[in-house]
Amino acid sequence: MDTATARALDRSDRRPAVVVLGSINLDVVVELAHLPVPGETIIAQHVRRNVGGKGANQAVAARLAGADVEFVGRVGDDANADMLRNGLEAYGVGNRHLHAVDGAESGVAYINVADHDNTIVVVSGANWAWQQADADTDALVAAADVVICQLEVPDDVIERTARLTAGRFVLNAAPARPVSEELLPCCDPLVVNEHELAFLSGREITGPSEALTAQAELMERGARSVVTTLGSDGAVWTAPGEQGVQPAPRVDVRDTTGAGDVFIGHLATRLGSGASLGEAVRWATAAASWSVQVAGTHSAYPDLAQAAESLHLVPEPVFHPSSS
Ligand code: RIB
Repeated sequence: MDTATARALDRSDRRPAVVVLGSINLDVVVELAHLPVPGETIIAQHVRRNVGGKGANQAVAARLAGADVEFVGRVGDDANADMLRNGLEAYGVGNRHLHAVDGAESGVAYINVADHDNTIVVVSGANWAWQQADADTDALVAAADVVICQLEVPDDVIERTARLTAGRFVLNAAPARPVSEELLPCCDPLVVNEHELAFLSGREITGPSEALTAQAELMERGARSVVTTLGSDGAVWTAPGEQGVQPAPRVDVRDTTGAGDVFIGHLATRLGSGASLGEAVRWATAAASWSVQVAGTHSAYPDLAQAAESLHLVPEPVFHPSSS
């Protein structure tokens, strides 16, 4: 075990308190020989139903990475709600703040997996019918080491949460939609993939160097730090005075669904344990590359020891000084 691994594992004696406020869905997944084109009908051999949603995925990933995790979210008053609640509990994620919305249906995501890629259609249901905050949740958010949100729940809920966060606020700006000027300065880091970065920056992102330029602009607009995942090109990050490129290891990709969520769960947990952004990106890269080799979401997520095993496959990062 190298020194960086040993140091990170040492720090994880103290389990960071992570709150994930976000979406939870029933994922209806079919594996196909290729993704359908418009007008095409494809026959699949079987369908898999599992707990998903970017929020729930990130919560389970953070828990497996070694954090104490509470999930804050909304389900419907339908038959799927219990399955979603139990799916969090099975991994030891706290679900006391997962409330049912009267008259709403739980979120459902329809996912096609093929060609090392996927398409996802989300019917948000209760995730989007979120109106009232509760005082208990406010106290939980204020006490957390790290709070993680995504963009699958209403902006008001996210902005209120960011204002209440006293620890570190991590925003996964997915799926792509605008991030308000009020929210951007709370993000430490803002985490995006290349499509979301292109959307937020208005630039074409074809690789690490364009991503670093776009990240520098987001820092000028107020973000405290930014991380971009680039699939097989790895990830890049920008923090005050430093930029870095973290190449990904070469692995056999089977299913990338939720790989970004694994990345964020591990990233946030390492940050909560005191790692630098560069160190946390390296661990998150190891964890995500482990998960894409296995089909499924939560069942394909590595724990801390498995991420540590993959760490030696992850190439050394390249650091760049930066003026931001
Ligand atoms: O990031 C993957 C997730 O996006 C899926 O689990 C799906 O539910 C959608 O929210």
